[in-house]
Amino acid sequence: MQVVETVAQVVAACREARRPLGLVPTMGALHEGHLSLVRRARLENATVAASVFVNPAQFGPREDLAAYPRDLQRDLDLLRAEGTDLVFAPPLEEVYPPGFDTYVEPGEVAINLEGAHRPGHFRGVATVVTKLFAILRPDRAYFGQKDGQQVAVVRRLNADLDLGVEVVVCPTVRESDGLAMSSRNVYLNPEERRAATVLYRALCRARDLYQQGERDAARLRRAMEEVLRQEPLARTDYVSIADPDTIQELERVEGPAMASLAVRIGRTRLIDNFLLGRDLS
Ligand code: PAJ
Repeated sequence: MQVVETVAQVVAACREARRPLGLVPTMGALHEGHLSLVRRARLENATVAASVFVNPAQFGPREDLAAYPRDLQRDLDLLRAEGTDLVFAPPLEEVYPPGFDTYVEPGEVAINLEGAHRPGHFRGVATVVTKLFAILRPDRAYFGQKDGQQVAVVRRLNADLDLGVEVVVCPTVRESDGLAMSSRNVYLNPEERRAATVLYRALCRARDLYQQGERDAARLRRAMEEVLRQEPLARTDYVSIADPDTIQELERVEGPAMASLAVRIGRTRLIDNFLLGRDLS
């Protein structure tokens, strides 16, 4: 496994690499969710590249950039064990050198949900993902459904800017009690960890009603809110039943829909979603 820190080195490595090349962009603090993307990329590509970069541009001023878990040595061990060929782990100045002055601004797809609660977040995500696509020129790039709106933003920018990458979306990996794996789960104390299952329980309630034939989006949202209200440690940022591609709220679920929610448990903000009426495989 080759580990490189500079843009020049990774450009050179990708130019030499056997194709197809699959890229797994990450912010490190790797867990089974990230590794599932690496495994999928390993199955489908001659070369697997991963990036490990905690991107300051996607964190708000009051968010957890400084506290975000970092352990590059451990991440590299995990990536090596999965057969990763190339890791790009740049320092900040390599991605945002002095004078950096160009950002990618996503449109309507980034306005609601995470976009509304985290101003500038998707501008930061879109900018770094565009740069990673430009630097590594991957044939495929792997993202988790866990960040459902991020998937919609990345698909949109890839199409709109003609980046020509095949965007592959992988299912959300969960703990045995349903909690979606996240680098932020380490912030939860034991009591909060138990309460955090409420996100999964709320999504299951919406899915059950959907499977029983409920198509009224307002009723599905209310059912999720009702589950959330029963958990005293949970404070809800939003619940949503939206179009998974445009991230616009639905009145009725006629085609594919994404049930999603963001909930604060103590000081930790968690997100999760289920797709309704659309398969990931
Ligand atoms: P990060 O949070 O490190 O996640 C990297 C990738 O792993 C994302 O595509 C995310 O959706 C996926 N992922 C996280 N938890 C998962 C889970 N439980 N199951 C399946 N996939 C999961 O998302 C980012 O980093 C950044 O925004 C990034 C795209 C790297 C741009 O900076």
